[in-house]
Amino acid sequence: MTEWKETIAPDEEARFEKHAALLAGLQKGVAKGGDVVLRALHAKSHAGVTARLEVLDAPAELKHGLFAAPATYAAYVRFSSGTGFLQPDTAPDIRGVAIKVLGVAGAKVIPGLEKASTQDFLFIQTPANAFVGPDDFVRFVHIVSRGKALALPRLIGAFGWKAFGHLRKLMKTLSTSRHSFAHQRFYTALPLRYGPHACKLDLRSVGANGEAATKGPHGLAEDLAARLAREPLTYELGVQLFVDEARTPIEDASVAWDEAVSPFRAVARLTIPTQQLNGKVHDYVEKLAFDPWHALVEHRPLGAMMRARNHAYRASTMARRATDELTVEDLA
Ligand code: HEM
Repeated sequence: MTEWKETIAPDEEARFEKHAALLAGLQKGVAKGGDVVLRALHAKSHAGVTARLEVLDAPAELKHGLFAAPATYAAYVRFSSGTGFLQPDTAPDIRGVAIKVLGVAGAKVIPGLEKASTQDFLFIQTPANAFVGPDDFVRFVHIVSRGKALALPRLIGAFGWKAFGHLRKLMKTLSTSRHSFAHQRFYTALPLRYGPHACKLDLRSVGANGEAATKGPHGLAEDLAARLAREPLTYELGVQLFVDEARTPIEDASVAWDEAVSPFRAVARLTIPTQQLNGKVHDYVEKLAFDPWHALVEHRPLGAMMRARNHAYRASTMARRATDELTVEDLA
């Protein structure tokens, strides 16, 4: 179905600018005036690696944008944890996977960057956000980032008794250090265009053994390093198409699209070949900007939560002086 539509509020640009400034303020606070400025969110990296994205020969209705024809692309992948500060992996957190596909021809979304040659996809572990829209999301992030001690009364002050519902939802999405990145499923959680369609994407691990990660403050990085020293990691990238506004809403970020209504269908395979971590590539990936708006016009992000990200990511990457993009060969 291609009858999806966005509902854009007249005041939203101004609100989203304020959200971006609020997150940048938190980012600055974490940096404490020093030279090291981390990402406003997803500050901790567990690995930055080179990868390969193979586009499969999908059924005709799924041949759009990057997935229009079988091809193999080089890519970078960054595995992260969600908070805007560094903490041990033993602390529950949301995990993220960001992919930057290189050498992608076709017009891109951001004005002035139409000729960019990369397409990014960002995933977290949950198929929906805990909040309907970005105002509540950013308000929540702002409160919990100001310290645990007063978080609960502040949350109740901001959200009333709904604070408990939000917390319950969020707790379900948090992962502990034992959950290896190698055998999990990740989601864009928010919609994007898929040619004439709208969709969400997922990333599902294939064939990895279910061993837990090693315990410890950096167990997730150690687990990835040990696995990638001995074998590649493979994920299937799937697409879930929009059906109708009631069941697969564009503007309500809190609704996970029911897989019984619209299943995820594989359109590509992501392979992270065997490699040593912590080298030149890791440092380079740390400086990159992964951004859902680094996208082909055919994959433009959709919905208010995505439109808010159009401001927040640019503010964060500018504050931490993210680097220009290089090819995998440049780094060899
Ligand atoms: C619910 C869907 C979302 C997903 C799947 C997601 C995923 C991610 C991931 C994986 C990263 C790390 C990227 C990297 O490794 O460089 C990230 C970073 C970030 N996210 Fe999100 N995010 C979501 C929602 C949001 C929202 C609603 C906002 C704010 C309005 C936001 C703001 C940020 C910021 C500021 C960064 C740091 C950007 C940088 O400096 O590179 N995210 N996100």
